[in-house]
Amino acid sequence: MQSNNRDGNVVRTMVPKENGVFLTWEDLWVTVTNGKEGRKSILEGVTGYAQPGELLAIMGPSGCGKSTLLDALAGRSGSNTRQSGEILINGLKQKLGFGTSAYVTQDDTLMTTLTVREAMYYSAQLQLPDSMSKSKKKEIADITIKEMGLEDAMNTRIGGPGAKGLSSGQKRRVSICIEILTRPKLLFLDEPTSGLDSAASYYVMSRIASLHKRDGIRRTIIASIHQPSSEVFQIFHNLCLLSSGRTVYFGPASTATEFFTTNGFPCPTLQNPSDHFLKTINKDFGKDLEQGLDGGIPTEEAINSLTRSYKSSEIYQQVRRQVSEICKQDWGALEKKRNHAGFVIQCLVLTRRSFVNMYRDIGYYWLRLAIYVALAIGLATVFYDVGSSYAYASIQVRGSLIMFITAFLTFMTIGGFPSFVEDMKVCFVCRLSIDLLFFEASINLFLCTLILLTSFNMHLD
Ligand SMILES: Nc1ncnc2c1ncn2[C@@H]1O[C@H](COP(=O)(O)OP(=O)(O)O)[C@@H](O)[C@H]1O
Ligand SMILES: [Mg+2]
Repeated sequence: MQSNNRDGNVVRTMVPKENGVFLTWEDLWVTVTNGKEGRKSILEGVTGYAQPGELLAIMGPSGCGKSTLLDALAGRSGSNTRQSGEILINGLKQKLGFGTSAYVTQDDTLMTTLTVREAMYYSAQLQLPDSMSKSKKKEIADITIKEMGLEDAMNTRIGGPGAKGLSSGQKRRVSICIEILTRPKLLFLDEPTSGLDSAASYYVMSRIASLHKRDGIRRTIIASIHQPSSEVFQIFHNLCLLSSGRTVYFGPASTATEFFTTNGFPCPTLQNPSDHFLKTINKDFGKDLEQGLDGGIPTEEAINSLTRSYKSSEIYQQVRRQVSEICKQDWGALEKKRNHAGFVIQCLVLTRRSFVNMYRDIGYYWLRLAIYVALAIGLATVFYDVGSSYAYASIQVRGSLIMFITAFLTFMTIGGFPSFVEDMKVCFVCRLSIDLLFFEASINLFLCTLILLTSFNMHLD
């Protein structure tokens, strides 16, 4: 019976080679250096899978390793982490190419001075191939904005510290929009609903889960999620419940409640199951007080009992069988390279975007222009009437004037680095080449210096 079920399941999930990404991970351990104490394990032998057309939710208390698991699966683990175990894509060890996967990070890394429409248009021009017309790219950007319900905020600036713009929920949706522009087959989302109210969370998650209805791509979606409502919970196909890096449950979301009930933690009537799971496995707050109140067993014990029960359950065996079935199939290698804009277009778009950003950022051009003018007036006053002869004194004064100008220009240029670092973060999210970024920064710096030098000369003449 079991094997029939299993076979049925495998047949159900088989899709044509080019139409999906199967991701499996087996006995995955992630450790980080922890100062003098040596290494600390963040994930401890996690096993699971994600397959096309399904949404896998990773849940657990904060600090349990959700983002670490997502990072490891997406191949974005930090340099101080070490991992062991096998992560396979379509049964093979391979890298995720550009456009195949997208990762929506927990923090929104957006250019605060741009409007939603501009941010999307620039991203579309950078990420979509040159063979696509500009109008088509804009159309795709507009459709994506509508998909995420951002039509009303299209012309609103994103905003950031000190400049009010979009709400945090809207920013999250802009980040998601930018990532799904390339229609990736594998989508990682780190807490996509944080900052959203329950209705917005539901709409965002249901839209993400139903993206395939619009573009026909059977997408593999993995989302770490924090406190889903019961409606959002029903959207999940599979659930991975972590506690301190250990798997408490991995399997169909619909049978999680049954698993908890069987192991002595029934979900109270009218309580949101996800709230119940998180409350049962959260050991961050010493449970001594609560223990007295509801007479439950200590959380540490509850977690140990659940992890043990899960390891010996039929659900776990089924997950392992499913992982090995997926690995056995010949899904073929992933498409090697998906196109994005070429070098020249990327340079032009980045330079334009950077100019718009700097032009709108009062501290970047305008404040500095005012300082330059003040400096120019100051220098012009000090060095007024240095004489036009070739006398030694006159030459010496001109030399020191050049020194001053060079020193001022250099220091003022350094003032532009914070903006450059912001640009770098945005470009890192867009997975653009760092060389390109330096090229774009050099163009900007060159033009900026040229303008300022001209204004200096005009002033001194
Ligand atoms: N690179 C790192 N160096 C040190 N500790 C880390 C690192 N990455 C994560 N951690 C720690 O691992 C734990 C899990 O982190 P994370 O995966 O971000 O949790 P969350 O489930 O909230 O997303 C946290 O206690 C965090 O402090
Ligand atoms: Mg996290």
